[in-house]
Amino acid sequence: MLADKDRIFTNLYGFQSPGLDAARKRGAWDNTKTLIDAGKDWVINEMKASGLRGRGGAGFPTGLKWSFMPKPDPNRPSYLVVNADESEPGTCKDREIMRNDPHLLIEGCLIASFAMGAHACYIYVRGEYILERERLQAAVDEAYAANLIGKNNVHGWPFDLYVHHGAGAYICGEETALLESLEGKKGMPRLKPPFPANMGLYGCPTTVNNVESIAVAPTILRRGAAWFSSFGAKNNAGTKLFCISGHVNKPCNVEEAMSIPFRELIDRHCGGVRGGWDNLLAVIPGGSSVRCVPAAQIIDCPMDFDSLGKLRSGLGTAAVIVMDKSTDIIRAIARLSYFYKHESCGQCTPCREGTGWMYRVMERMVEGRAQKREIDMLLDVSTRIEGHTICALGDAAAWPIQGLITHFRGEIEKRIDQYAANPHIDAVKVAAE
Ligand SMILES: Cc1cc2nc3c(=O)[nH]c(=O)nc-3n(C[C@H](O)[C@H](O)[C@H](O)COP(=O)(O)O)c2cc1C
Ligand code: SF4
Repeated sequence: MLADKDRIFTNLYGFQSPGLDAARKRGAWDNTKTLIDAGKDWVINEMKASGLRGRGGAGFPTGLKWSFMPKPDPNRPSYLVVNADESEPGTCKDREIMRNDPHLLIEGCLIASFAMGAHACYIYVRGEYILERERLQAAVDEAYAANLIGKNNVHGWPFDLYVHHGAGAYICGEETALLESLEGKKGMPRLKPPFPANMGLYGCPTTVNNVESIAVAPTILRRGAAWFSSFGAKNNAGTKLFCISGHVNKPCNVEEAMSIPFRELIDRHCGGVRGGWDNLLAVIPGGSSVRCVPAAQIIDCPMDFDSLGKLRSGLGTAAVIVMDKSTDIIRAIARLSYFYKHESCGQCTPCREGTGWMYRVMERMVEGRAQKREIDMLLDVSTRIEGHTICALGDAAAWPIQGLITHFRGEIEKRIDQYAANPHIDAVKVAAE
């Protein structure tokens, strides 16, 4: 288990004040100038050496991403944009950082912006996060008042920080949709390339990073890359916030070492699976966008990017959704299909038409009102959406269904047999809206 002395988020549960004085006592803003005086190259190299992979879902190495930013150009400012849209079902970690430890994020914004030559940073906060935005804004105001950030701040890097409030759309978490929304347009993903590092906010070089990726940076730099990379398996370094929900005895958010086995994570922090380990059915380990993993495969699996990837699932945002045997897994996945249908921005045909089509079929599958040959048809359609769209929402809609069919085909067939043995004439739910 991760020792308390190795936790980065020491106020995750809000037992102490989120304010500046308390944050300073916990170690925030400690010697920040020394880190900045060490220079951009040092910061980026340390971040690379730490092995930190982005915490927003895709797991792209953070230091490498920072190094992609072009050299500063006086005619084209660079920007850091922090993705605080956190709308992936099951995910609730960034909100704890913003409301309980916002100064870690603000300090991270300054250091990351310095490393990338940015003098301005925007934090795009999910529309429904009202308290989080207020707490964050209060902390930003405190940082300005203490001259920690601002034009002539004590760190010697002119830096402005803006908190922007979204309107509550999942798609605005996709980094280019987020940039569009920030520019005041409809939140629709952009075609890539060009990537944001070359053509981002207002057409200028931009890096988009998740809240957790940025908030851990100051502690990594203070304690050293070797300290951070000492946690977790090779290529999966660091400590990580896990959001554990569903059928465990005590759902919680917890910072743990990456690669902790699933069983240990649940036993230590959540009081075990409801009804005992024999009652576990399946787990969605990385937020709703990844494929579910049946109990037998996940129990001893290290919770990290590569191990879960080998199970054809993923760590995603580390939102671990635990389902016991009371779960109607077909209905659970159908509910996710509804979510993706609802959140599709409608720009590309496979996603716009496909998410609705898949949802309608899934609704029939829940009742068993389907033909067995439709299972393969559904699988086939999902593969025609996956990888054929502008953004990864198409993949995210396809993967839960693929996981269901791969691991629970028998359940779907059983449901179809049950319905065939007792057909009824109730109207079929039509989901055309
Ligand atoms: C539909 C969709 C929604 C997303 N939502 C979020 C989100 O809420 N927060 C987030 O950090 N990343 C989200 N992402 C991932 C971002 O596009 C981007 O990869 C991430 O912010 C990069 O940060 P990182 O490198 O620090 O992980 C989403 C991606 C997609 C396709
Ligand atoms: S995949 Fe879906 S959400 Fe993404 S751009 Fe295409 S239509 Fe919009």
